[in-house]
Amino acid sequence: MKPDVILVTRVFPRTQEILEQEFNLLKLYEAADRDAFLKEAAPRARGLATYTAWGADARLIDALPKLEIISHFGVGVDVIDLAAAKKRGIIVTNTPDVLNDCVADTAMSLVLNVMREFPQSEAFMRSGYWASRGAYALTTSVGGKTLGILGLGRIGEAIAKRAQAFGMKIRYHNRTKKNVPFAYDPDPVTLARNSAVLMVTTPGGKQTEKLVGASVLDALGPRGYVVNISRGSVIDEGVLIQYLRERRIAGAGLDVFENEPDVNPEFFALQNAVLYPHVGSSTNETRLAMGMLQVENLRAHFSGKPVLTRVV
Ligand code: DGY
Repeated sequence: MKPDVILVTRVFPRTQEILEQEFNLLKLYEAADRDAFLKEAAPRARGLATYTAWGADARLIDALPKLEIISHFGVGVDVIDLAAAKKRGIIVTNTPDVLNDCVADTAMSLVLNVMREFPQSEAFMRSGYWASRGAYALTTSVGGKTLGILGLGRIGEAIAKRAQAFGMKIRYHNRTKKNVPFAYDPDPVTLARNSAVLMVTTPGGKQTEKLVGASVLDALGPRGYVVNISRGSVIDEGVLIQYLRERRIAGAGLDVFENEPDVNPEFFALQNAVLYPHVGSSTNETRLAMGMLQVENLRAHFSGKPVLTRVV
């Protein structure tokens, strides 16, 4: 008998195929009546497969009394109520490491794009302005500048490696100092003060909500840039938009937003912001690897083995 696993939304095609083959998939996203679906699934659903922004809140977890494992596709588990899972002894897994390089590439491209204004200069070119208006304005060099990493985890370290190859100096702040060859700052404000670019790579969730607000952006100052590849919730967006508009910081490179995909349209008018639609890990190769890890965790659990990447 294949174990019953609820799938919250349609996922990466190859992952979906494997999930369909190996488990008795109960597709929550196809249910016309969600409550009726959950009531019917409750006596048999032992697994829950969640995907990027489609997580599991306490209400969903509580509706499934037989739930043993939540296998999440994504490294960030802020969309899962971990306390509710922990209280019930439900295993939660994620898909770390396999996405580090892609997310770090994205982060580095935001640094380059926001400082050198490549997207804006390309738009200038496509508008036919080169001949009529002359050369595009001068921008800011990346080499020699300091990158301050807020939350130096595995992704932060992959970013540091790339930034060093571009001639940047690295500093960081974590709650606890790490054994790394980078200068440590005791708090986010000091890190921002010491950095030309503040790279936000903390986890999302309540603990880091609005960690970057007016005091951090003031410390970064009018020549400083902020890049966020973590979660929109880590930056106070209202304050960020105001600081960008008033040029109280030089620019922002953002892959993540508070209310995705309904991004605050005020961002779109800002010439000093480079905006991506949360594409940090979005390559075929990386998504395949993330999906395989999600599947492997379910396979391991349902064959009585320890899961590979347990969060709680
Ligand atoms: C992740 O893995 O957490 C990415 O942000 C996709 O949700």
